[in-house]
Amino acid sequence: MNTMQQNKQAVATAINFPIERVRAEFPALHRTGAGLFFDNAAGGQVPQIVLNAINEHLLERNVQRGGRYAQSMAVDATIARARASVAALVNARDPNEIAFGMNATSFIRLVSMAIGQSLGPRNEIIVTDLDHEANVATWLALAPLGAKFIWWKMRDDGTLHPDDLKPLLSEQTRLLACTVASNALGTLVDVRSAADLVHAAGGEIFLDCVHFGPHGRIDVQAFDCDYLVCSGYKIFGPHMGFLWGRYELLARLPTFREDFIPDEPPAKIEAGTFIYENVAGMDAAVSYLARLGRSFATTATSKEAALRDDVSRAMSAILSYERILSVELLRVLSECNARVFGISDSARVAERVPTVCFNVGNLAPSSVSMAMARAGIGIRDGHLYCPRLMRRLGLAQDSGTVRVSLVHYNTIAEIQRFGNVLSDLTKL
Ligand SMILES: Cc1ncc(COP(=O)(O)O)c(C=O)c1O
Repeated sequence: MNTMQQNKQAVATAINFPIERVRAEFPALHRTGAGLFFDNAAGGQVPQIVLNAINEHLLERNVQRGGRYAQSMAVDATIARARASVAALVNARDPNEIAFGMNATSFIRLVSMAIGQSLGPRNEIIVTDLDHEANVATWLALAPLGAKFIWWKMRDDGTLHPDDLKPLLSEQTRLLACTVASNALGTLVDVRSAADLVHAAGGEIFLDCVHFGPHGRIDVQAFDCDYLVCSGYKIFGPHMGFLWGRYELLARLPTFREDFIPDEPPAKIEAGTFIYENVAGMDAAVSYLARLGRSFATTATSKEAALRDDVSRAMSAILSYERILSVELLRVLSECNARVFGISDSARVAERVPTVCFNVGNLAPSSVSMAMARAGIGIRDGHLYCPRLMRRLGLAQDSGTVRVSLVHYNTIAEIQRFGNVLSDLTKL
């Protein structure tokens, strides 16, 4: 499909996208004085079904797992169900490839430390200047263990190109750590091509899927990655994180655990107690997506395939609807003469998600966010945890840029309200 056909399909999907029904599911959007949630890259809102699951967990089974009494066994069942749901969300081959924990950063640190302990002659780690610092600094911290670093640099249009990765690979390549979508510029990365290249060189690929999570279909089998990390609070769940890894790789990773904990995934990755109510909430977030996807189904699927198929359908519809949001956001920013960093051509919206960084005239990024806050619109400014990217863009780390980050519950009308405030601001 060419770009024109893709955009036409996106318009058709957007017209059919049940935006009012979607918004009705998120109580926070309708609180008095809630304003507009345009800072979703820092965390999204949760549907009622997630609130219910957390509430119910704390009320009915707020106990430690592994006991022989009913509530404790119910906690074990909740964790097992959530593991299967999250496995379906990412298309894992086995629920035991999913580990639950605090957040994405702590999982990146856990895997990087394990890899750092087993470097050998393959000691080169490739990192990018597009990534969130959580997926850069954690790897750079392996220098004392003998790791060498190679930079896969983005092109001036904010994209990471596989052709630029090729010459960086060699017999020394241990791992490529890269993002699936930039939390600052919104660029999508061709992670499958990157995985093919890295594997051909005998290395592994670690994907930071935190920013991509709410926007598209996560598919560890299609990505052909080796590790992938996500944060639940970016995918309409509560604050928690999860890691996926190929079972055989997780089984080999040296991790800290008490001696009596089995040296097998997921137990060996989940030392200590994680937040069970938030895992229950994450399970419910997957159910929300599945229910949304089911509303687009034209044919019934088998029960085993149903959850994955429903989630996939939801994410495809979300991706298409969000392209329309990207087009409108770029249009509004162009009308306000904003300088957009990264892909700004609306013909290329298939290469991005609706996360856009920009600066306007000589206005300080902080003054733009403060003016938006006064108008009831929550956006963000600063380095966005990407200080290296800011330097690359010629921006000062302390002031950085302005970011608007939308998800599927945002609307064209909201973007226009934001555009009116921005336009007034540029006329002052
Ligand atoms: C792309 C990306 N990677 C990693 C992180 C860190 O995630 P966490 O807060 O779950 O550690 C974030 C958080 O904003 C992010 O956007």
